[in-house]
Amino acid sequence: MEKRIVFLASGRGSNFQVIMEKIKEKQIKANPISLITDNPDAFCLETAKKFNLSSRILSYKNYPKLEFNEKLEELIDKDKPDLIVAAGFMKILPNSIVSKYRYKIINIHPSLLPSFPGLHAQQQAHSYGVKFSGCTTHFVDEGVDTGPIIMQEIVPIVPNMTEEDLTKAILVKEHQIFPKTIQYFCEDKIVVSGRKCNIKI
Ligand code: GRF
Repeated sequence: MEKRIVFLASGRGSNFQVIMEKIKEKQIKANPISLITDNPDAFCLETAKKFNLSSRILSYKNYPKLEFNEKLEELIDKDKPDLIVAAGFMKILPNSIVSKYRYKIINIHPSLLPSFPGLHAQQQAHSYGVKFSGCTTHFVDEGVDTGPIIMQEIVPIVPNMTEEDLTKAILVKEHQIFPKTIQYFCEDKIVVSGRKCNIKI
């Protein structure tokens, strides 16, 4: 049975788009169900339309935090996902969702975790002066960007590279490892043991 995927995104949605393309091309065998966004102006809504994927807007501004989280959980539950893909979703998922969907929520982060979790990861890495950064896909746990790591890709930070250059270079790698990660998940190839994820290839 193809896995039912619910996407969460807050903005541009370039990762969402790349994954949807791979699903359309059948490189990823999955059943995309919906996109949920907290941002009524998010470009990812246009992309959902393009792919005829149903989308739901849960505007963060309209609810107190607790109620937002409850509504989000209701929306997700309704779609009965086998996998939730956080593709640039800018809200921290509440523990109730995380524990209900343990090892079923995958996020991408634009640094080599555990370095530089949280916001503005590219800026953090660039200003720290590290020589390598990159991106990480991981299962979501109760912390911020702390869950078991699935895949990583490296981007060297060369002299004179600006933060913008770094961000662009990382995004190229994101578009490679995120769909791969989703593909492996959909093929039941990711084995989790404690903090460690092994991919059976
Ligand atoms: C990406 O840099 C991703 O790593 C981070 O949010 C950004 C989303 O970009 N979590 P996009 O919306 O997929 O273009």
